[in-house]
Amino acid sequence: MRAKITATGSYLPRKVLSNVDLEKIVDTNDEWIKQRTGIEMRHIAENESTSELAAKAAEDVLNKSALSSSNIELIIVATVTPDQPLPATALFVQNKIGAYNAFAFDINAACSGFVYALSIANAYIVSGMVKNAIVIGAETLSKITDWTDRSTCVIFGDGAGAVLLERTEEDKGILSVVLHADGRYTDLMMVPAPGSKMPCSKKAIENGDIYIKMKGNETFKMAIRSIASVSKEALDIAGMDFKDVDWMISHQANKRIIDGVARRVGLEGERSIITIDKHANTAAATIPLAMDWAVEMGKIKEGDIVLLNSFGASLTWSAAVVRW
Ligand code: ACO
Repeated sequence: MRAKITATGSYLPRKVLSNVDLEKIVDTNDEWIKQRTGIEMRHIAENESTSELAAKAAEDVLNKSALSSSNIELIIVATVTPDQPLPATALFVQNKIGAYNAFAFDINAACSGFVYALSIANAYIVSGMVKNAIVIGAETLSKITDWTDRSTCVIFGDGAGAVLLERTEEDKGILSVVLHADGRYTDLMMVPAPGSKMPCSKKAIENGDIYIKMKGNETFKMAIRSIASVSKEALDIAGMDFKDVDWMISHQANKRIIDGVARRVGLEGERSIITIDKHANTAAATIPLAMDWAVEMGKIKEGDIVLLNSFGASLTWSAAVVRW
């Protein structure tokens, strides 16, 4: 028994912010952003919440599937930008798409959130607990971005991607998943407030503690090696090697990281899916957004081996091998 990805979907908010637009907000320039990150533009959710983006990505998935919302048994939303602390964003999504027969919850593993969520849905399907699941990565990072901090505001964007997983007896779908976490590095990236450690207060707002803080350089140094090694672990479990991989879909945090991984494992060029130029870093949403883009572009085809890998705050890293 396996869990197969039978449909993909995505949604991007209408507003686009280019690098040139950013030049008017902070001391930065198009050349620096393109060279150092590979980003050319990002989408910004002006009046939409994370669940609205997520529900639109889920509807896109359902439109491409034979199932209707009442057939869905599980909804998982991976996000670091929930609509509210309580209830879970997944419940707002359930209500918006009318999937009232599903149980639903959120998970937070930052940029690794989508692969973590995929692993949970896979386990539920393989164990027989459910027959299908919608797994969504959705973020409105623009709402926790400090638009005066050029070291972070140029890299993030908003968007949502989703997949439908269905039980199959074919040898297709998720072949292996490996997850890692290391809580010794929680200071590398964080949003300090509001939370139980630092509840909502005027001081937290004035100090900018409600925004993303990131030690970009230190995170960068750890990323390439960790992504390459977790990918090898996942391929070993699937009984494969990097040469068996048709497509690599990495978390899109920085094109230099993605290219560095691709060079290290011999998957350079066409075989590495790049969407950071148009989507920027949308945390848990980058992999499903890139996956839907690659499917829509006709790149990923039935039977292809797809390697997913990610690295995020603080620290989580993960990989999965999928036979399409
Ligand atoms: N525009 C112009 N110049 C800038 C900008 C900017 N937006 N930002 C920084 N600079 C300058 C710095 O001031 C510095 O100047 P100096 O040399 O005169 O001091 C110079 O550029 C280099 O700064 P660095 O911080 O070393 O820049 P770097 O090349 O490391 O790029 C970046 C920064 C893009 C953040 C990179 O470190 C990165 O991508 N890190 C990894 C991020 C990541 O993977 N995060 C985890 C996943 S995200 C998640 O979990 C939600």
